[in-house]
Formats: sequence, structure tokens, C-alpha cells
Amino acid sequence: MRGAVRWCLSLSVLMLPGCSGVQSALDPASLEAERIAWLFWWMVIGTAVIWLAVMLLAFYCLRVRPESFTQRRANWIIIGGGTFFPTIVLAILLIFGLAMLPPLLAPAPAGSRTVVVDGEMWWWRVRYPSTEGEGVSLANEIHLPVGETVQFQLECDNVVHSFWIPALGGKVDMFPGRVTHLALTPTRTGVFRGVCAEYCGDSHALMKFDVVVEPRADFDRWLTHQSQPAASPSTDLTTRGQALFLRHGCGACHTVRGTRADGAIGPDLTHVGSRLTIAAATLPCEPQHFERWIAFTDDVKPGSRMPRYSMLKQDELQALAAYLKGLR
Ligand code: CUA
Repeated sequence: MRGAVRWCLSLSVLMLPGCSGVQSALDPASLEAERIAWLFWWMVIGTAVIWLAVMLLAFYCLRVRPESFTQRRANWIIIGGGTFFPTIVLAILLIFGLAMLPPLLAPAPAGSRTVVVDGEMWWWRVRYPSTEGEGVSLANEIHLPVGETVQFQLECDNVVHSFWIPALGGKVDMFPGRVTHLALTPTRTGVFRGVCAEYCGDSHALMKFDVVVEPRADFDRWLTHQSQPAASPSTDLTTRGQALFLRHGCGACHTVRGTRADGAIGPDLTHVGSRLTIAAATLPCEPQHFERWIAFTDDVKPGSRMPRYSMLKQDELQALAAYLKGLR
């Protein structure tokens, strides 16, 4: 008995980290996630109470003599506990859950900011449309102003993905040829982790993104900076890196605004050096990781559409990595 208690306690302690952190639905950071967490905790408490009642009843039945129950009373326990009770509890839960849906599915109020996210294989294209000019395009990083409802417009033209930011809410599937929506209102600042919640192929588990929730002034500054063209290389190393980037045809798939690289297949790299991570949040945004990513792409992300450039010499990789990290 004591061993079982100790085992249960150790298991509970091991599970506690799941209640907080950048990717926990139990540590909500938006109005919508708070509602979902609230439903979860009520269900946990309800389940615990029912489980305890059933255990007490079972214990009582083991102790009591069979003849102290008439057949009629026994039938009532079976029909009441086995049919009526679950029907009532499940009906309450259904009504409770369905009543929560309309606010979770409601679109953001008119005039809210729209962020377009495309599910790619296997990364996320993020776009901030603008009424003046081109807008901003980047990959695997979303910035949101705290306290403002934002409307996500979710698109995809390949396989089914599912957009989920556990701490902020979701998840909503992305279907080829259809547009789905999700409105979220972040309530506190921080960096949160988003994931793909639908198996979509080789690198499904490596299809992640960062969500930065920040004060409005910081968000505006970030968006203005992202809309600027790329910085020109400022050292010999980064100048060589840019030349290699253009010579090896990287610009056929990637855009670096302000240069002749204008490809649309891969992520826009105009400000890639300013991101928190690279390769869909699988590597930190540091020069040595750019080198690894470029040379061993499919080792880092199996099935990646970008070919590996392992034929490049070490000094060439260094120059390319310095150039990309310099694109802040
Ligand atoms: Cu995209 Cu799983």
C-alpha cells in the first residue's frame, strides 16, 4: 500500500512540469485558453469526486453482508448508478461544453488585425497583410500585441496541418483549398510555443513556431522593422556570404527584400537573423546552427524540401551563416 502511494506521488511530481511552461494548455495566456483550462480543471475535479464516490461504494459493498440488500434495492443501485447517473453527468458535461463553443468559434471583432498563416511542408509561412504596400512575410515566428484580439486566417495548399498554440488556444485544422479562422486575445506577454497538431508527414513533429506576445509599442516597432528591406552586408565575410547566397541559387526559393533574391517557395529571409529560432523552431538562431542546417538539411528535418548543401566548404558555410545571421 505504502509502495503504491509513493509510486502515485512520484508520478504526480513527474507530471507537474506539464502544468506550466511555454507549451502548456494548463498555463493559459489568452482569454480563449483560460476558458479551455477552466473546463479541464472542472472535469478533473468532477472526475476525482466521482471516482472517490465509486471507490467508497465498492469498499462499502465489500464490507456489507449480501443479505442486507433486497433484490429491489440492488436493482436500484445498478439502474441508478449505471444508467441514470452517467446519463445525467454526461448530459450536463455536453451542455457545459457546447455552451463554451460559440465564444471560442466567434470571429474577432471587425477591424481586428489579421495574421495569415500558411501550413507548409514542414514550416509555417506567416504574413501580416497591409493596406499600404506589400505587408510583411516571415516564417515560424508570430508577434502579437498583448490585450488585442487577433484574427488568424489559416491556409494551406499541400496536406492537412493543424495550428495549435497550447498556451493561447486553438487547435484549428488547415485544409488544402479551404480557409479556416481562429480568434485569440493574448492576456500576458511572453514567448510561447506553437506546434502542428495533425500528423502531416516526415517532419510533422519538427513543425513548430514561436509566438512572441509583447506590449503594443514593441509590436509596432517590430512590425515596422520587419517591413524594411534587408540590411546590406557590412563586413568582408557577410559580403562573401551574400555573393555565395546569390551564386548558389538560394534566391530561387527565398526572398531577401532589397536584393535580387525573390523566390517564393521557401521562407522569406529578409530578417531571418532577428528570429528566435530557425528550421521551424528546431535550432537556435545562431551562425553554427545556420551552417548545420544548410549543410545537413535533411538530417535536421527529414523530408525537407530544401536540398542539403554539403558540398560547400567550411569557410563558405561560415560566410553564408554570417550573412544570414546579419539579416536582422
Ligand atoms: Cu504539419 Cu503536422
